[in-house]
Amino acid sequence: DEEVYKYYADGEWRKSTSGKSVSIINPTTRKTQFKVQACTQEEVNKVMEAAKVAQKAWARTPLWKRAELLHKAAAILKEHKAPIAECLIKEIAKPAKDAVTEVVRSGDLVSYTAEEGVRILGEGKLLVSDSFPGNERNKYCLSSKVPLGVVLAIPPFNYPVNLAVSKIAPALIAGNALVLKPPTQGAVAALHMMHCFHLAGFPKGLISCVTGKGSEIGDFLTMHPGVNCISFTGGDTGIAISKKAGMIPLQMELGGKDACIVLEDADLDLVAANIVKGGFSYSGQRCTAVKVVLIMDSVADEVVEKVKSKVAKLTVGPPEDDCDITPVVTESSANFIEGLVMDAKEKGATFCQEYRREGNLIWPLLLDHVRPDMRIAWEEPFGPVLPVIRILSVEEGIHHCNASNFGLQGCVFTRDINKAIMVSDAMESGTIQINSAPARGPDHFPFQGLKDSGIGSQGITNSINMMVKVKSTVINLP
Ligand code: G3H
Repeated sequence: DEEVYKYYADGEWRKSTSGKSVSIINPTTRKTQFKVQACTQEEVNKVMEAAKVAQKAWARTPLWKRAELLHKAAAILKEHKAPIAECLIKEIAKPAKDAVTEVVRSGDLVSYTAEEGVRILGEGKLLVSDSFPGNERNKYCLSSKVPLGVVLAIPPFNYPVNLAVSKIAPALIAGNALVLKPPTQGAVAALHMMHCFHLAGFPKGLISCVTGKGSEIGDFLTMHPGVNCISFTGGDTGIAISKKAGMIPLQMELGGKDACIVLEDADLDLVAANIVKGGFSYSGQRCTAVKVVLIMDSVADEVVEKVKSKVAKLTVGPPEDDCDITPVVTESSANFIEGLVMDAKEKGATFCQEYRREGNLIWPLLLDHVRPDMRIAWEEPFGPVLPVIRILSVEEGIHHCNASNFGLQGCVFTRDINKAIMVSDAMESGTIQINSAPARGPDHFPFQGLKDSGIGSQGITNSINMMVKVKSTVINLP
């Protein structure tokens, strides 16, 4: 009689009528850790109906009251940081300290969103007619931001809590209802996070969380006529969703192949520290991880040596011990990473460390002398393996970066601010960091991907603005 975690609908915890469950495999032990309900399409329909009804009343709830509830949820979330972090350790093998950080950051994000929301949604616009040719001042246009309706949020496994609240909080402050479909790995952490919102006292049906198999409810959710907006973070699935979704606003953050361009005059210790942090934190399973180093040949040997000595100090093992490198999320992910590594080996890349794998645990690996004919030069491993491509000119680095089908973030290291700006302008990516590894945060910064890396811009302010529409009332004077 194993426990199957219930899903959340209409303000209560429910068992699915399917009688089926989905297993969550612990990446470290590779054994079933938890089970969640496999919801049915009929249950999704009910959630959508409840959301629609609840949203109408929520949209009329004063903005300050919506903010108050979000602040309450944020505080409860922080109080529950230990048990939620425990789920993140067991479900996605996130190192213990990072797991706690994710929950605290999420609480802060919810509070900030509440504050930002009351400011930007508290403002409307007044236009007068006589600025346009042929008009007298006899029309006043009042416009304000109103909710879209029901927002569907689909976060990925690597931040099941933080990338859930980055969609939930803006949706709610703006007066929308919210349906969450968490990733399988991370679903229990997401359900626990949902419990915090439940304790805060949001109206019944306004927020819900359905769990289940993508094959059963994935398309059904994303193509559901009751959905008025989709905010998705993940991989290629996002491209498929954007093709199938209806005429609704979409916010997508997909993969990345963030390039790190290193010029000759860079601070090489700073470079090495950022390559290790950017490439290997959470075992490279971040969309903003450094995924290819493009380094001027004249400084490459020195940087590779510095990186090697730092990589040797990384701890490898279970997330419970707060190791730097922990098992990657699934066996198929580990197999995919291994495939990229073996391809590079066959084609002559230099391994700076010995390749080592036990189960889902892959030891950190820097691959030097990678060339463009190797898969790892272009594909996203989402693991602790990092290719180094030596370049003879800045233009060569920019060219490689821009030839990628991804364009999330990138970074450039140089002491020359003029060169830094020139490279930043030339790189076709959503954000370029000067002298630091890519990162999404602070969470109020705009965050966007170009090309196959996504559509729309996130970050707290942009997400709130994306989850509203402009509504005008024109007063016509006689
Ligand atoms: O994995 C994708 C995340 O949006 C990256 O966030 O830069 O805070 O790790 P991060």
